[in-house]
Amino acid sequence: MAIGFLGAGKMAEALLSSMVQDELCEPWEIVVCDISEERRNWMAEQYEVAVTDDAAEVVEDCDMLVVAVKPQDINVLLTGIKDQLDEEHLVISIAAGKTLAALQGVIGTKPRLVRVMPNLALSVGEGMSVFCAAENVTPDDKEAVMQLLGMAGAVLELPEQHFDAVTALSGSGPAFVAYVLQAMIKAAVALDLPEEEARLLAEQTLIGTAVYLQNTGSDIGKFIQAVASPKGTTAAGLAVLEASDVNTVISQTLAAAAARSRELSKA
Ligand SMILES: NC(=O)c1ccc[n+]([C@@H]2O[C@H](COP(=O)([O-])OP(=O)(O)OC[C@H]3O[C@@H](n4cnc5c(N)ncnc54)[C@H](OP(=O)(O)O)[C@@H]3O)[C@@H](O)[C@H]2O)c1
Repeated sequence: MAIGFLGAGKMAEALLSSMVQDELCEPWEIVVCDISEERRNWMAEQYEVAVTDDAAEVVEDCDMLVVAVKPQDINVLLTGIKDQLDEEHLVISIAAGKTLAALQGVIGTKPRLVRVMPNLALSVGEGMSVFCAAENVTPDDKEAVMQLLGMAGAVLELPEQHFDAVTALSGSGPAFVAYVLQAMIKAAVALDLPEEEARLLAEQTLIGTAVYLQNTGSDIGKFIQAVASPKGTTAAGLAVLEASDVNTVISQTLAAAAARSRELSKA
């Protein structure tokens, strides 16, 4: 099946590069459309894929269409191709906040439609993508979507009602985690650790913790207790965390992101 990308920015490139790298398909099976000549030239040179500035050409040539323009550009793009779209097309939108109903409001219910919330870690093969599907999407379509997204990280299907929470946790989450990481690095520098080394230690600690928890499936509370020996260094640090309102702050952070996602999906 030929795959078309409508919009060739950061996210499209992240998906496309892992597809080509992992040989999910050959470059000649991919067509990329972008309004930016610079992006088209980059994609053609870097990945040897066909490029065009004409979305209609991509719809003509491809059954699977990944829509990867910014949410504010998607209606104009889809309106331009809606008359060409039919039952033969599987449309995969990664636009934040654009619901299945809103997208079907533009392209109708003939094309099979999937909505995805990915994150930026797709670009290093460690993304988290969550998808939901319209009623006409087949098990084979879902399999194809899982294969495509799975090239660049983990994939999960969830009902659309969870998408505001998903957007807050895994969509915006990389920025929140990086914020905490930055604070830990600053704190370590204040303890006289050189910045470069502090960054390495903080990043590797984050990776190690996540991989350990994911691989062992350990209870997180027990893991924290296992690191903290009585009256030791970790216990001293944890006492500060527990006396603080860090849980409230994290909960307010995610709630604000989810509320904004809800607002944007109604806009
Ligand atoms: N970045 C993230 O962390 C993240 C996370 C989750 C979801 N997403 C979603 O992923 C989608 C893509 O985001 P991104 O960060 O990859 O955006 P991006 O880097 O801005 O890429 C979008 C590309 O599409 C082009 N474009 C705009 N209108 C077009 C049209 N009508 N036809 C063809 N190409 C067009 C843009 O060109 P110009 O720049 O010239 O306008 C740009 O090159 C967004 O909908 C976003 O909500 C992103």
